[in-house]
Parts: sequence; structure tokens; C-alpha cells
Amino acid sequence: MDTYKRTIVITGGAGFIGNHVVRLFVNKYPEYRIICLDALTYAGNLANLADVADKPNYEFAHLDICDFDAILALLRTKHVDGIIHLAAESHVDRSISDPFAFARTNVLGTLSLLQAARTYWESLPEKYEGKRFYHISTDEVYGALALTCPEGKAAEFSAHEVYGDDFFVETSKYAPHSPYSASKASSDHFVRAFHDTYGLPTIVTNCSNNYGPYQFPEKLIPLFINNIRHRKPLPVYGKGENVRDWLYVEDHARAIDLIFHKGKIAETYNIGGFNEWKNIDIVRILIKTVDRLLGRKEGEDLNLITYVTDRLGHDARYAIDSRKLQRELGWEPSLQFEEGIERTVRWYLDNQEWLDNVTTGEYQNYYEKMYGKR
Ligand code: NAD
Ligand code: TYD
Repeated sequence: MDTYKRTIVITGGAGFIGNHVVRLFVNKYPEYRIICLDALTYAGNLANLADVADKPNYEFAHLDICDFDAILALLRTKHVDGIIHLAAESHVDRSISDPFAFARTNVLGTLSLLQAARTYWESLPEKYEGKRFYHISTDEVYGALALTCPEGKAAEFSAHEVYGDDFFVETSKYAPHSPYSASKASSDHFVRAFHDTYGLPTIVTNCSNNYGPYQFPEKLIPLFINNIRHRKPLPVYGKGENVRDWLYVEDHARAIDLIFHKGKIAETYNIGGFNEWKNIDIVRILIKTVDRLLGRKEGEDLNLITYVTDRLGHDARYAIDSRKLQRELGWEPSLQFEEGIERTVRWYLDNQEWLDNVTTGEYQNYYEKMYGKR
């Protein structure tokens, strides 16, 4: 007999956003059993969860979401009633060089998870009552917005002052451009199709770019912080004019908690920070912040900026309108960007060992250290 009020599987819990969601749920809900399900690809790192690994309500399942039989067995034996699905291949540049890996995990993996949830929940007397399948997606499925930003304005003005109403809303047309966003778009469609066809209780959210601790240093912010520290070149794609809307990762985790508990079945919610920046402006802020925190002369490392060939199909601008979430569930970002960036830079500078471990691949031995031979 389970003593827990709920059992929730969080897929991709050893990745960047996932570890913040797992930590929040394990600490906030001791009455829930939280199972972190992760295949531990290059992006998954159990060291991210070292501070919760010994909590009684935390478990780890080393599984691939494509393994339908193993997932179904886990759902059955643990009486899982909630799934928060973050596991994915997540890096656009990798999707350009290996699109098949993205179709496999993001599309087929999501489908296998959906089918396992449906099979298990439909076998229960109460069926879908009290169950929830929450799929985490991205704003990139909507394609790209026009780059109408006047010179230098993105950093100086609030998004609405600069862009008016040109934002992604929940009803925006899907128009993915990269293999990554195409695979996420496809997975979103499967999730909605499982609701419409079988009645699976699903929710989808589409979030803007996240930043904060524990992000794999292939993504812009951690890569550049590490490079500035080591005085390595900063490869800015194209002219650095592309605009992204940045949200502190813990604010995303708070939104996920709220939506998992209070969101309406079959709904879509956009999550974003109303915080748009041109890449080149972010890079300058990172240089300034790292230099200051390391006691270097201000701007000393601006010469590391190196303009390189643009990413293929590089989306000009992403910007989320998250007013539905604010209106219906009362969520809004808690951190100003300046504070979030300061915290983030400090975290990477204070955790050089974590960065060194992930850049050398050392973290991949962490599983054996924690759980013995695979
Ligand atoms: P990440 O790459 O840091 O982590 C992905 C995790 O999934 C890793 O722990 C990895 O081991 C695991 N994983 C990969 N393939 C798997 C498989 N086949 N089976 C089981 N586990 C597998 O990604 P992230 O940045 O934390 O993103 C998490 C989710 O949020 C993704 O679905 C992504 O599309 C979405 N998202 C990310 C952002 C962002 O800015 N990072 C923004 C919006 C939405
Ligand atoms: P990234 O962190 O890869 O997120 P996404 O592509 O999902 O938005 O990139 C953020 C922005 O930074 C994007 O416009 C591409 C750009 N970029 C660079 O200019 N140089 C880099 O080395 C990387 C990784 C990204």
C-alpha cells in the first residue's frame, strides 16, 4: 500500500530545467513520491540532484522514454498518477547536425510515454480521474517573429514599448523552422491528439528561453560565462542581432508547479518573462558581470567577441505573451533580469568544478558513484 498522496514521474529530471522542477517538488511536497526518470544522455547529470538524492520521497529511474515496456512497468508498479514530461533533445545546433536523434526522443519518446500512460490509466477502475499528463514545450514551435526592434532598444525598453503586440500567443500558428522545433511541434500535436482521441488528461505549456544554474554549457549563457572566465573566444552567430525572451529557470519551475496543480485539462499556457534581449547585448552584459566579479578591469574582455557564420535557419526573434497565465492562474516572473543574471554568473563562477566536470565528461561517472555499476 502506498503511503504517498501522489506519485509523480518527472522525465528529464536530471537535465537543466528538470532538476529545478524535481528539487521544487521534492522539497515542497514531502507527501508526494517524486520519481526522476532520465536516460542520462550527455545532458543528464545526477550531480544536479545531489542535494535531494537522499530525501525519502525521491527516487531515480534510469530509463529511456522510448522504452515503452519499461515505462509501462514503472507506471504500474509505482502507481503513477502524474507525469511532468521534460525529457528531450534540446539543443538547436545539435538538431541541425543530427535531426534523427530529435525525432527519436522528442517525437517517438513522447508517443511511447503517452501510450504507456494511456494503457496504464485506462486499466484502472477510476481511469483518468485524478490523473495528469503535463508536457513541457517551447516557444520555438511558433517559428520566428520579425525583427522590428529599433537599434539598441531591446535592452532599454520593455517589450511592449518596443514591439507593440507582436508576440506569440497560445493560438499562434505552429511554424517550426529547426529540426528541434519541428520535433517539439510534432510532440505537442501528439499530446493534444491523445487528449482529443482518448481523453487523456493533458496540458501543454510553451516557454521562452530559460537561464540559470545547471544549464549545459553548449547553450549561450553558460558557454559564454565559461569562455569569458577562461578568456576563450565568444562565437556570436551572425551579427548578434537575434532576439530571445529570457526567463529565470526557477520562475519556470514555479509556473510548472502552479499549472500542474491548477491548470485546466486540455489547455495550453505560454510562459515567458516579457524580457527580450538581443544576443549581442546579453554578451556585453555577461562580459561586464564576469569581469566585475573576477576583479578584472570593466570591459577588459570585450575583445573576446568573435562574429562567426550564422546558424542555419537562425530564428530572428522569439517573444512570448504570457498574459493568459497571469490572468487565469496569477503567475508572473519573480526576478528582474539584472538580478537573475547576477545570480547566474555568480553560480557558474562559484561552481567551476561542476563546469569542469561537464566539459570533461567526468559527470558521466556520477551514476556509478551513486548507484553502482549500470
Ligand atoms: P536538457 O537538454 O538540459 O535536459 C534534457 C534531459 O532529458 C536530460 O537530463 C537528458 O538526459 C534527458 N533525456 C534526453 N533524452 C532522453 C530519453 N530518450 N529518455 C529519457 N531521458 C532523456 O533540456 P532542458 O533545457 O532542461 O529542457 C527540458 C525541456 O524543456 C525540453 O523538453 C525542452 O524542449 C523544454 N524547454 C527548454 C527551454 C530552455 O530554454 N532550455 C525552453 C522552453 C522549453
Ligand atoms: P541557445 O542558447 O542555443 O538557445 P536557442 O537557440 O534555443 O534560442 O542560443 C541562444 C541564442 O544565442 C540564439 O540566437 C543563438 C545564439 N548563439 C550564439 O550566437 N553563439 C553560440 O555559441 C550559441 C550557443 C548561441
